Amino acid sequence: MLIEFDGVSHAYDEYRFAVRDVTVTLTERRIGLIGANGSGKSTMARMLNGLVLPTSGRVTVDGLDTARSGKEVRRKVGFCFTDPDAQIVMPTVAEDVAFGLRRRGLSKAEIRARVEAILARHGLAGHHDHPAHLLSGGQKQLLALASVLVTEPDLLVMDEPTTLLDLRNARMIADLVANLDQQVVMVTHHLDLVRDFDRVLVVDGGRVVFDAPPAEAIDHYLQLMASPR
Ligand SMILES: Nc1ncnc2c1ncn2[C@@H]1O[C@H](COP(=O)(O)OP(=O)(O)O)[C@@H](O)[C@H]1O
Ligand SMILES: [Mg+2]
Repeated sequence: MLIEFDGVSHAYDEYRFAVRDVTVTLTERRIGLIGANGSGKSTMARMLNGLVLPTSGRVTVDGLDTARSGKEVRRKVGFCFTDPDAQIVMPTVAEDVAFGLRRRGLSKAEIRARVEAILARHGLAGHHDHPAHLLSGGQKQLLALASVLVTEPDLLVMDEPTTLLDLRNARMIADLVANLDQQVVMVTHHLDLVRDFDRVLVVDGGRVVFDAPPAEAIDHYLQLMASPR
């Protein structure tokens, strides 16, 4: 999908701009966003599905303006948060996955089939009736992802999906992402996760300060972090 930021700024309050005048066109399958805490990564990521709207400028996804067509945009763009507890809303694993399919006009049988398929694909088949809150951290993130993927988005935006996970679970999520058909935009501090991506943007002070293949972008970011503020 074609993602366009056209002169995009966002201020949460009158004076502080979290994102400043970003203009960028993204078409790659795997896009990383890296940068220090508070640099504006989450704000940019949230603008991709209209969770945050530009204060000025325009964000379009597949030609749809996120400010005008939020609902259609959210059908195309799935979002995965850092903390799966923020995303899991139903008591059991299967109910949580099915929740994402509500109001889509699907029959009960179709919903059941899709839920079963996605649970099987992500190694949660045996956890159908498991209480969601009793899953391990890694399994919770898997469930949160399954609940988004069951809606078959064209683009998956992930905001630090491995930050709360141990290395084994982070690896598992990275492998899952590597095998997804979807286009992915991922914010991360785990630089290994974006090493084989197509394009990596370095964000600093609300601006995209570097935009390159991963090796160069990671180098730039490491230098930026080593230099005095
Ligand atoms: N809901 C909010 N209300 C006010 N300020 C916010 C809010 N969310 C983020 N900010 C501020 O916007 C800036 C960018 O934040 P964010 O996009 O979360 O950066 P990052 O994800 O890179 O850490 C920071 O200065 C942060 O304090
Ligand atoms: Mg963030």
